[in-house]
Amino acid sequence: MQRVLLDVDTGIDDTLAISYAVRSTELDVIGITTCFGNVSVDQATDNTLHVLEQLEVDIPIAKGEGKPLFHPMHKSYSTHFHGENGLANQSVSRSDKHLPKHASQFIIEQVKKYPHEITIICVGSLTNLALTIMQEPEIISLVKNVVVMGGAVRVPGNNQMHAEANIYADPEAADIVFRSGIPITLVGLDVTMKTALSKKEIQKWKNHNTKVSNFLYEITDYYIDRYRNYYGDRDYCALHDPLAVAVAIDPSLVTIEPMVVSIDLEGLYSYGRTVADLRERCTDKPNVNVCVAVDSERFLAHFLQHIV
Ligand code: BDR
Ligand code: CA
Repeated sequence: MQRVLLDVDTGIDDTLAISYAVRSTELDVIGITTCFGNVSVDQATDNTLHVLEQLEVDIPIAKGEGKPLFHPMHKSYSTHFHGENGLANQSVSRSDKHLPKHASQFIIEQVKKYPHEITIICVGSLTNLALTIMQEPEIISLVKNVVVMGGAVRVPGNNQMHAEANIYADPEAADIVFRSGIPITLVGLDVTMKTALSKKEIQKWKNHNTKVSNFLYEITDYYIDRYRNYYGDRDYCALHDPLAVAVAIDPSLVTIEPMVVSIDLEGLYSYGRTVADLRERCTDKPNVNVCVAVDSERFLAHFLQHIV
């Protein structure tokens, strides 16, 4: 089993990613860290604890950053997709059952405890990871891999014209991570927008009729409605965060191209864009393994087999 840490901004697709990771036989989720993004960090922490309670598992959770590293918040929470509380407005109680230490401290401890073994799956802003790298640069060579759900390399952004939500939430943090030399596999909109979970599929969760399947059905049904409301033409949602988990489980689900990728920190129209050097003759050393294609069918089959 592969040891993983999840860094989340729990929201609905984060919930699907957590459930998928916890239930997959290939991964051992040794801890979860939370950050702001879809909702505030406090809400993301409460939501994560709520999800673990639904799943009836006990996994340590450490709360992380509540705003970008160097600037005030510029991105609003993604309540239009995830609901006011990030979990389709289901009732979630406040809780202080998280560890009494910061996310970055927890990540450092775990990576040092299991050198070269841990894959960190980041499905929110890269703020916690950037802070961790700043506090303890040694982790760069001790982490096995970092799978990032974020960015849009050859496709448009979602939150902004060119920028994807997780990178846009804290571009300076993403820049620190991308320049650090830590191994990165980028699962961006290039591939996540090619995945789809339909109302028809989740109906089976409802028929399954367990506590977890009903919970996942309710929130995902809401998420698909919000997708239709936003895009106007679809009865499905993309599986952004679950695809990052899948790539950690089985990288053969995607086609990977090593590239030189930078974060635009200046652009008037493209602040937070993941800018790849796509020239035929790029002589710089690649810093990111970019997922450029996905076997969506095989991914969906694996996801559905494990999720409920
Ligand atoms: C990403 O943004 C968040 O809203 C989702 O949870 C996902 O991590 C998609 O751009
Ligand atoms: Ca997320």
